[in-house]
Amino acid sequence: MPVKFEFAFANTATPAGGVAVIFSTTGTALSGLSSIGAQGAVAKAVDLSKFKGKALASVDLIAPHDSPADRILVIGIGEADKITAHDWLKIGGTVASKVKTAEAVTVYLDIPGLTLTPRQVADFALGMELNVYAFDRYKTKKSDDDTKETDKVTNVQIVTEQSVDAAFAVTKAIAEGVILARNLVNEPANVLGPVEFAAQAKALEALGVEVEILTEVEMTELGMGALLGVALGSERPPRLAVMQWKGGAEGEKPIAFIGKGVTFDTGGISIKPAAGMEDMKGDMGGAAAVTGLMHVLASRKARANVVGIIGLVENMPDGKAQRPGDIVTSMSGQTIEVINTDAEGRLVLCDALWYCNERFQPQFMVNLATLTGAVLVALGTAHAGLFSNDDALSEKLTAAGLATQEKLWRLPLGKDYDKMIDSKFADMKNTGGRYAGSITAAQFLQRYVKDTPWAHLDIAGTAMSSPTDEINQSWASGFGVRLLNELVASHYEH
Ligand code: BES
Ligand code: MN
Ligand code: ZN
Repeated sequence: MPVKFEFAFANTATPAGGVAVIFSTTGTALSGLSSIGAQGAVAKAVDLSKFKGKALASVDLIAPHDSPADRILVIGIGEADKITAHDWLKIGGTVASKVKTAEAVTVYLDIPGLTLTPRQVADFALGMELNVYAFDRYKTKKSDDDTKETDKVTNVQIVTEQSVDAAFAVTKAIAEGVILARNLVNEPANVLGPVEFAAQAKALEALGVEVEILTEVEMTELGMGALLGVALGSERPPRLAVMQWKGGAEGEKPIAFIGKGVTFDTGGISIKPAAGMEDMKGDMGGAAAVTGLMHVLASRKARANVVGIIGLVENMPDGKAQRPGDIVTSMSGQTIEVINTDAEGRLVLCDALWYCNERFQPQFMVNLATLTGAVLVALGTAHAGLFSNDDALSEKLTAAGLATQEKLWRLPLGKDYDKMIDSKFADMKNTGGRYAGSITAAQFLQRYVKDTPWAHLDIAGTAMSSPTDEINQSWASGFGVRLLNELVASHYEH
């Protein structure tokens, strides 16, 4: 059955049954010992297991009979001066992975020699929430011995000296935004098409986000021939969702995030091979990240003006589908020869970027897209590709990536690559040949941003199907939500 954690924070706690979680930094005393009793027996067990407090090392003990706890979980947090902000999420995630079956958990974060900030305590809880997330809504039988359909709620009492309510409100917003993004990406495409995705964006109105949904009628009037061309082969009509969060000063130019939302990518007439095609339900990871981000910013009432735009289409082969060789006219007026109908993401994004720039004249635009398989060849799953016309924006994004461990690696742009997408028949073609596939895709997008500071994040390797870790056990990672929230929080709020 699905597990949910309910958190409470206080500086005193009496564990009655359940798991007591205690910590130590390398070579120092354990937290919580005086409260859980049986100090001698615990110290001996910890000693015998050669536990030294190394980061994320653990010892799991059945509690001695004179302890009020049932289980005692000992967690190492490494050297006190080496713990990063992100480490608290990993520590929380590690604890969560070990207490999922517990009835109640008492966490002793009053660690000797270490005073945690409220945000560090809240980040610990965030790590727990992100770890425990599982997309199991379609499992009618959660496990062999399962009879219950309801969530199992585990009460987590965190023992801390700090008053953490404000910080916890922020991390709760982050958890919800990441989980929204993961849910959107994990959801199968028969359930989540463009119209259904747009409804999820519309639901952000409940948080104070202004949301407009453009249909094919408005998009036709705007001349979005590139985006609309992709949608031709699908029975399901396209949508463009425009989300505005106005938390900043009135009249201040917004910052803008744009997402690729291909709810399923068959490749179209240039159809993909069958093996692995099911993964293309996640080809809306960019749009999911933007939607999750807007959720976070609105929930925590970010003091910034932010626009989120997502282009939602399904790429299907059909009698009405566009063909290789077709020429479409984008909203910008530039014409595109469609060499490969599977290079559809850039066709969706080019109209979304142009529209965003024209309508909002934003301070900058950052787009996110599961754009190319080639970025997996270049960077694997450990970094998303970063492409930008602006060094300052790139540096801010890279730093936010290091802070959140949603890491970015910048790749080049330039004239030599740009000319690879010149077309014999139109202003440009939608593929650049075998080499430098991620870069030529980025060059294509750059033709739609004028001089506005812009960055493109190719998240094909990081949004889904990447290795699980302490804070994500799910196929969809929610990549980009924490990264961009960090970018906004550290540079664009006053
Ligand atoms: N959605 C894919 C890219 C992708 C691949 C995302 C693997 C996630 C995992 C994109 O639309 C695509 O098909 N790109 C082509 C471009 C090519 C036709 C120029 C690709 O990467 O092969
Ligand atoms: Mn494709
Ligand atoms: Zn695609």
